Amino acid sequence: MDDVILQVHDLRKHYQYQGSRIDVLQGAGLYVNKGEILAVVGKSGVGKSTLLHIMGTLDRPDAGTVLFKGQDIFQMNEDQRVRFRNKHLGFVFQFHHLLPEFTALENVALPALIGGKPRTEAFGKARKLLDVLDIGDRCGHIPDTMSGGEQQRVALARALVMEPEIVLADEPTGNLDMKTSQEVHALFVKINQEFHTTFVMATHSRSLAKIAHRAYTLANGVLQEGMLV
Ligand SMILES: Nc1ncnc2c1ncn2[C@@H]1O[C@H](COP(=O)(O)OP(=O)(O)OP(=O)(O)O)[C@@H](O)[C@H]1O
Ligand SMILES: [Mg+2]
Repeated sequence: MDDVILQVHDLRKHYQYQGSRIDVLQGAGLYVNKGEILAVVGKSGVGKSTLLHIMGTLDRPDAGTVLFKGQDIFQMNEDQRVRFRNKHLGFVFQFHHLLPEFTALENVALPALIGGKPRTEAFGKARKLLDVLDIGDRCGHIPDTMSGGEQQRVALARALVMEPEIVLADEPTGNLDMKTSQEVHALFVKINQEFHTTFVMATHSRSLAKIAHRAYTLANGVLQEGMLV
């Protein structure tokens, strides 16, 4: 039987904006198997980012639960949640959010240094990941002197440096051209196969969704298994 690592039950989330109410999630549920690449697809504005932010504890739901290995992550106190996030989760966003004044190597090593790893270990791990992602020769570059695809590979390396069990990726190739996107997609597959990292990716890209083992479609506030758009 598959090993479920994350379970989402009956999530509800609304936003109130300029006097009107937007009900984004209205009872959304899903499960994630350990080691799989899961895609969440759906039209723009349906709530994919909202869902991923909640799954990543960056936002809170109005109601519902998110269980990581059976533990309710919203029952943790703030300190526990921050520790949980640093230890178990990695994030990749559409815009990479790399620190502009730091080199690729420093950007990747930073979460490990903040997490208390010794310098040699943090930088050694960062270098190894940049090598795996085929940009070892860009270690000393700052983000502005790298292409979009290279920057996104640095962001992926940064997400992986703490060896998270799950990487949440929100439109990770939304900002890249088709060819570069496909190269980055291939790297997700490579990382998944080499390190057994679990990925949850929100995307409108059918080609990205195709590399996933399973998909859910988000529409009208709920999730249905399959790629229905
Ligand atoms: N802070 C906010 N305040 C008010 N409304 C919001 C807020 N954040 C998101 N929304 C609204 O909630 C809905 C869902 O937004 P979300 O960003 O989750 O969609 P998405 O599926 O990720 O879209 P896209 O594919 O364009 O990235 C949208 O209609 C958006 O306008
Ligand atoms: Mg989004």
